[in-house]
Amino acid sequence: MSIPHGEILIDLQAEAPQEVNSDLPVVALSQRGQADFEMLATGALSPLSGFMGADDYHSVLKEMRLSNGLIWSLPIVLPVEDALAEHLKSFGEAVLKGSSGEILGKIKIEDIYKADKEKEAETVFLTSDAAHPGVAALQKLGNWYLAGEVEAYKVPHHGRFSQYRHSPAELRQLFDKKGWKTVVGFQTRNPIHRAHEYLTKCALEFGDGLLIHPIVGETKGDDIPAEIRMECYEAIIDNYFPHRYTVLSVYPAFMRYAGPREAIFHAITRKNYGCTHFIVGRDHAGVGDYYGTYDAQKIFDQFTPEELGIQPLFFEHAFYCKRTNSMATTKTSRAMDHEKIFLSGSKVREMLKNGERLPEEFTRSEVEEILRRHYQNG
Ligand code: ADX
Repeated sequence: MSIPHGEILIDLQAEAPQEVNSDLPVVALSQRGQADFEMLATGALSPLSGFMGADDYHSVLKEMRLSNGLIWSLPIVLPVEDALAEHLKSFGEAVLKGSSGEILGKIKIEDIYKADKEKEAETVFLTSDAAHPGVAALQKLGNWYLAGEVEAYKVPHHGRFSQYRHSPAELRQLFDKKGWKTVVGFQTRNPIHRAHEYLTKCALEFGDGLLIHPIVGETKGDDIPAEIRMECYEAIIDNYFPHRYTVLSVYPAFMRYAGPREAIFHAITRKNYGCTHFIVGRDHAGVGDYYGTYDAQKIFDQFTPEELGIQPLFFEHAFYCKRTNSMATTKTSRAMDHEKIFLSGSKVREMLKNGERLPEEFTRSEVEEILRRHYQNG
């Protein structure tokens, strides 16, 4: 089993007090804020115990490390608007509320500092282009970041996917019970197509178990909604993955579309969930043409395996090879382009919208049916 990042698994969950001081200021968390809150509360972001202060924020942007030197690639921040930032200055703590107005917890107000959005966009997303979904989201957020330790009274998941929601401690316990010493983590924001199935199964040949860990926080508008993807995961696991070796659980984070930096973040947070290995294929967490096909793999060279503490498993572009009638990658097949069956995400959406069938070589029929139903209803 992996050692948590920073060697300590954080748990910020605390008993809610009978009554919360009604004079305290309130910070209403957005969907994204709630996702970060849940990740913090359960220890998925260990060793962080709250939203980042200015030192950590600037150090992460500049060095991809926390101010204590530990690898950390993305800011975990709580943006607030100007007026609220001003108001919060005279308080020592604030109440955190969820989107339906329920009290989720508290934050100790340790710092309120100005976001450096330009630098954040250039370092995290490697672009300042407002057409990039991560940059666009950043530009809409408040200009100030509220920092401090968090106390969590409640984890805000509103019953969504509750049977698949496990904290890092729960997954670690489960892997332990199964006797898994090595666990391969698989991040995805898509239905499992044949290429994904190929990567996960190749990796599983060498690992004791596989964690299919789809992201269920906010994704961009044209990505397939988590509810539909969950149906696809259930169908594909039911029919094609040995249950003894496979665990399906949801990853509460939201997608940043930060390509290389997000791949590092995905890996170290999966280490917190107990994974020893993590799959990084082509254009991991990428969007459009902002990142090179293998940039999210190359970034791992900047760190030693010891300080990462999780083994990345790199895969070349996978496709169905008509020459050998099997799945393959550019590493294992001599297929010419016309002998490869692979569809881009936008091509898949276009075909489904037009009511066209996806080839069985690209996606299993069970998944295709669920997706077709979704596109035809929507
Ligand atoms: S991601 O945003 O979560 O990376 P996606 O769900 O498409 O998007 O990918 C999940 C994982 O599978 C990522 O590691 C990605 O690099 C990898 N991947 C997806 N499609 C392929 C493919 N055809 N060949 C190789 N790797 C792939």
